[in-house]
Amino acid sequence: MSIENDFSLIKDYDNNYCLQVFNLLPVAFTKGKGCYLYDTEGKKYLDMIGGIAVNCLGYGNPKLTSAISKQAKDIIHACNYYYIPQKSELAYRLCRASFADKVFFCNSGAEANEAAIKLARSFFYYKDINKYEIITANMSFHGRTMGTIAATGQEKFSRPFEPNVPGFVHVPYNDIDAMIDAVNPHTAAIMLELIQGESGVNPADKQYIQEIRKLCNEKGILLIVDEVQTGVGRTGKMFCYQNYGVTPDIMTLAKGLGGGVPIGAMLCTNEVATGFRPGDHGSTFGGNPLACAAGNAVLEVFEEQNIIDNVREVSDELFEKLNTLRSKYNCIRSVRGMGLLIGIEFDDSITAQGMREQLMTMGFLVSAIGKSTIRLAPPLILTKAQAGSFVRALDKILKNVSGPKNVFSKIKDAFPSKKQVKDNVSKIGSAKIDKLDTLAVTETKPAETPDGEDD
Ligand SMILES: Cc1ncc(COP(=O)(O)O)c(C=O)c1O
Repeated sequence: MSIENDFSLIKDYDNNYCLQVFNLLPVAFTKGKGCYLYDTEGKKYLDMIGGIAVNCLGYGNPKLTSAISKQAKDIIHACNYYYIPQKSELAYRLCRASFADKVFFCNSGAEANEAAIKLARSFFYYKDINKYEIITANMSFHGRTMGTIAATGQEKFSRPFEPNVPGFVHVPYNDIDAMIDAVNPHTAAIMLELIQGESGVNPADKQYIQEIRKLCNEKGILLIVDEVQTGVGRTGKMFCYQNYGVTPDIMTLAKGLGGGVPIGAMLCTNEVATGFRPGDHGSTFGGNPLACAAGNAVLEVFEEQNIIDNVREVSDELFEKLNTLRSKYNCIRSVRGMGLLIGIEFDDSITAQGMREQLMTMGFLVSAIGKSTIRLAPPLILTKAQAGSFVRALDKILKNVSGPKNVFSKIKDAFPSKKQVKDNVSKIGSAKIDKLDTLAVTETKPAETPDGEDD
């Protein structure tokens, strides 16, 4: 039995048999190529969210897919009793590209952060120093495990699961005085995202991070940067800390590292690595040949195709165009971020969910954060032409709802209800895909903007 192309069956099965922990949008994707996704009806979408910063090489990258299929034929899993060549190689590549001397592999961002938290504590334990507390920022997001919800500076993620793991303190972000006040003799580490991705794409100030590094040095505290979302080229450098002129003691990665294959990593210096001894930490699947082969292929493609240069060039143009739009429409409150991690915040007249749904109807995928911000984290191979098509779609929506420099009185009517969007999304696009080739997708000449489909 295959339900792959029957959306109503997919939906029914999900509703009946999957735990409903997500508010799903009414669409299922069955194919992808480059920066485009295709749903069960054959409708094409420009993916401006990239599986939430995961699909850094887009869909169907030849090197990545052939590395995965070759590895699947050879060995998918051996186990951590033995040396794993793909793991050794990926560790070498990551250390060569960063401040780090050692890597621990796992399967997700939360797991990487768990490893970082444990390491920060055990590092001092083995030195016989009573430091265990970890300071993190308000509005941070570090994952969904018991340890990482305690680290996360947003109560909504931990309240139903209380009591929380003790030993975490939260302070306002970008506030050095608050950080200094929070430090005490038991502080083991400061753990921060350099851009708070899940709470609205808020970058840390450069001076703030530099002062934190100084503070850590003075007080003998470890600096952990959570680069689960910002790492692997997302911000126009291989790692976001490289934008800040500091090096951390511990860094965590996940999302983009496997190009879509689940993998997490915790990186640290040789000195900090003394905090883990054999038996202190582990993972059955962490560092498995398949995930590490994917990671190696991703990093090879980065080098061969100058992916990070592309991030910088497309980002510059996208920011410029979005800021031009901002000066045209009062309802855009701010455009912020770095590289290809961008938040666009609207005033109260536009809801993030409404904007996301409107864009989706027009064939563009973004995520909605909170009430008023949409987030872009597209594949890092996005072209300028594709970025331009997104900005034109946004322009078209804003023109329809407001008119330049106008009062936004009609905005509520302009956004369709959830039901309308649901009907629309399932109606649009009638051609079933038999073969992806028939959709005439090319990478060199991007298909014209999907925004016309709505007309
Ligand atoms: C900064 C940050 N840390 C940790 C996580 C958790 O990663 P995962 O969902 O892979 O556990 C996320 C996920 O969005 C994240 O953005």
